[in-house]
Formats: sequence, structure tokens, C-alpha cells
Amino acid sequence: VKKVFSGIQPTGNLHLGNYFGAVKRWIDLQNSNYDVTYCIVDLHSITLPQKPLELKENILRICATLLACGIDPQKSTLFLQSSVREHSELCWILSCNTTMARLTHLPQYKEKSEKMKEIPLGLYLYPVLQAADIMLHKANLVPVGEDQIQHIQLAQSLTKNFNHRFGPTFPTCEPMISEDLSSRIKSLRDPTKKMSKSDPDPKSCVMLTDSPDQITSKIKKAVTDFTSAVTFDPQNRQGVANLLTIHSLASNKSIEQICDESQRLDTGQYKFKVAEAIIEHFNPIRLKIDDYLKNPDYLWSILDIGNEKAQEVAEKTMNEIILLFLFLGGG
Ligand code: TYM
Repeated sequence: VKKVFSGIQPTGNLHLGNYFGAVKRWIDLQNSNYDVTYCIVDLHSITLPQKPLELKENILRICATLLACGIDPQKSTLFLQSSVREHSELCWILSCNTTMARLTHLPQYKEKSEKMKEIPLGLYLYPVLQAADIMLHKANLVPVGEDQIQHIQLAQSLTKNFNHRFGPTFPTCEPMISEDLSSRIKSLRDPTKKMSKSDPDPKSCVMLTDSPDQITSKIKKAVTDFTSAVTFDPQNRQGVANLLTIHSLASNKSIEQICDESQRLDTGQYKFKVAEAIIEHFNPIRLKIDDYLKNPDYLWSILDIGNEKAQEVAEKTMNEIILLFLFLGGG
């Protein structure tokens, strides 16, 4: 059975990009024939300053959201990264086998560090910790959005180096990125950029917890273009293509069908249809998130169960790695 592993940062609420790019597919995979593990990567989130109490709240918030979206703890291992110390330990070992040149050029680091005066070392190590996550759990498949490709490639090359030096220890992981536009949902304010939690303009993202009014207002203000017909042309009409993609994913209708149904509408009128589809899809999820959040003890108990399972896997891999070091050192 193939092993699926992925992670998500506990920074505030999820947006449509996180949902369609990652979480929705996590649920499909959980319901197929895979061994699936999903991790709330709090150690990754502290690469940027976090207030401890807020972080704790956000961990619960993400846990509630994942359950509300359909993660079933009976089928998926859901755990908290910081509770399994081996993640940091393997990160250190891998960092000794990573060059600074390799990390400097990674786009996420470049983008985030450009705006900073004092760059934390952890931000630089971020992708190495991500490789450690994947390798510790010996994952074959990693479902992520398109922005994560370079990070997965780093994990692949660290795997290759390790196996080359110490013998076959880790499987080579493959990123699972969907062909359609769900792996790159765009900002509502600037459809050339990805939808991102760190965007300072709240109108750029629809959050899973937005109220119907908030959703309608954000979609109404989404940047489109000066053509009024509703057509799917991702090259020349990125804004409208992004709305059609979101609409199609939220309603389970094909883009052609939606274009057909919207022939008489201009893009302004069409936006109300998009908002309606999003509201219909996410309203039940939003209500479930609220329900789960009323019961933090239950959420911690779910994580405790996952932590224990993940700990077992991590210990096994780490023991294997330490044996390899000792064996080669002694021989
Ligand atoms: P995070 O929390 O930043 O993002 C979580 C997932 O959401 C996807 N995503 C998007 N997909 C489509 N369109 C968008 N606009 C969009 N924005 C975000 C991301 O690609 C991601 O899949 N580094 C990871 C967390 C991580 C991880 C791992 C993932 C840590 N360790 C091990 C896989 C395996 C991240 O970006 O989290």
C-alpha cells in the first residue's frame, strides 16, 4: 500500500486555495486504498513570529477545519508535528547534507525573505524540515498545491543523496498535483498571483470560515477584465478563469456546463452565481468547524491518538538511520 503524507501550517483559517489545492484531495485519498498521514506543521509556522496562545488556538482551528472538511481519524493519521521530536532531529541530519546554494534559490524563501531585514535561520531551513517530514514517514506520494513543487524536489534529491551514501533507506516521493487549475487558485485581487494567507489584502482570499455576506462581497470585488462574456481562457482572462475554476470545484459542475449556463450573463451578474456556489459548498463546513471548536478536549484527543501513531513510525525510521550511521562509522 502506498504511503501518502502531507502537511498544513496552523496559521489562521484556511482559504479556498488550501482547500482545493490540498485538503479536498487529502479526503479523496483517505477514501481510496492508501495509507494516509496528515500533519499540522506548527514547527513550520514558527519560522515567522507567532504568539504562543494564538498558535495553540490556530492548531485547534486547523484540526477542527480538517475534521469538518471530512478528514476521518479512523482512516487518516492526523497529528501535530511538534509532538514528534524526530522531525527536528532528522531535519538537523538532512541540513548537514544540504548546501546553502540549494536553499537560497527556492522561491518561497526568496519571496518571504525579500521583505525582511533580519531573516530567521529557520525560514531558510523550512524546506529541509519539510523533507524530514516526508522522509521520516517514508512517503511515496505527497498531495500539495503547485507552489510546493520545488520543496518536494528538494526532498527527492536529499532522498537520493541519502540512499546513495547509506544504501536504500527511503522511497523517492512523488508530488501529487492535479492537472486542472485547482493546484493554483489565484488571488481575487491580482489573478497573476496565488491566493495566499500572507496577502495583506483580506479581499484577495475567501476563507472557509467567511460568512455568506463576506463571500458575496469578496467575489463581487474580484478583479476580472473588460470583456463581459463568461468564457474560460486561462491565458488571457486569468481572473474569469479563476472564478470559473472555483465555481466548478465548489459545484462539481464542469467548466463547459457552467459557461453554457452563463451565456446570458455578464461577468458582473455571473459573480453572484460563483458566490452562491461557494456559499452552498462551504456553509455546512463552516457550521461544523464552529461545532468542533466548542469541544477542544475532543480535538486534543484526536491529535493525541494521531501523535502516538506518528511517533511509532518516526521512532522506527530514526532508529534505522542511527544504526546506519553507527554501522558505517564502525565499519
Ligand atoms: P501551507 O499551510 O502553506 O499550505 C497548505 C497546502 O495548501 C496549498 N496551497 C494552494 N494550493 C492551490 N492554490 C493556492 N493558492 C494555494 N495556496 C496554498 C499548498 O501547496 C499546500 O499543499 N510547506 C507546506 C506544509 C508542509 C508539507 C510538509 C507539505 C510541511 N511539511 C510535508 C507536504 C509534505 C505548505 O505550504 O503549507
